[in-house]
Amino acid sequence: MTSEHGSAWTDLARPDGRIGRRIEAHLRLGSTNDRARELLAGGEAGVVVLAEEQTAGRGRHGRSWVSPPGRNLTLSVGLRPRLAPERAGLLALAMALAARDACATAVPCLLKWPNDVESPSGGKLGGLLIETVIAGERLDAAIVGIGLNVNWRRAEMPPGIRDRATSLADEAGHDIDRAGVLRALVTAMDVRLEALEAGASPVDEYRAACATLGAEVVVETGPGRRVAGRATDVDEHGGLLIDTGSGTTSVTSGEVVRVGRPTVTA
Ligand code: BTN
Repeated sequence: MTSEHGSAWTDLARPDGRIGRRIEAHLRLGSTNDRARELLAGGEAGVVVLAEEQTAGRGRHGRSWVSPPGRNLTLSVGLRPRLAPERAGLLALAMALAARDACATAVPCLLKWPNDVESPSGGKLGGLLIETVIAGERLDAAIVGIGLNVNWRRAEMPPGIRDRATSLADEAGHDIDRAGVLRALVTAMDVRLEALEAGASPVDEYRAACATLGAEVVVETGPGRRVAGRATDVDEHGGLLIDTGSGTTSVTSGEVVRVGRPTVTA
């Protein structure tokens, strides 16, 4: 697009980077994930697709992603990660850490398993929707979609969202420069993807950033299926280990729907 906004965003392109060599800024799109997927199909990986407004923004588990125009960051990047299939799950952890890095330039923040960014008091600052394309046994592509609440004040959020969300501006007590957060995000994604592809594991850093560990949780693993217990660890593939009281269960995908106080152990 060619609006005033658009040129400001496109100026943030990183000509030498693998992610963000080109920034495509739209006033309005259905979902940035769909546009990033189109670009990938046309041979363009690493383009940052940004939209001021999404008309069909989606979240994890079939939910919609609501974000008012011009206040937040909603973006996607299509990638062709050079990763062995058994390490593909670590991409979500690495990208969640990148989102945490970017938010941490403005306020203290943590991660909720698997890839929500939250404030220390548990308000959701943002989330990631990673859609993968598997070809046979191989990870062919990944579309990393990120939504961050930057300058959307809680007072303006609808009650159903305000109850569990917050924004960088609310946490900081002042408006936040979206361009600065975007710059930090794209750089962190690039650095973390390169480290992952070089064989480094993000798990130790993820554990240190993960507020879910040590807490009593209920995880929804599918329609009508829940696992309850104490979240004890994140395994080497990124799965959440839960001590249910009658053994340890590894959960590879799901939604933490309830979090209790951390259990204090001697
Ligand atoms: C979640 O927490 O459920 C994940 C939210 C991901 C939202 C982002 S906004 C940009 C990208 N485009 C989408 O349609 N969704 C992701």
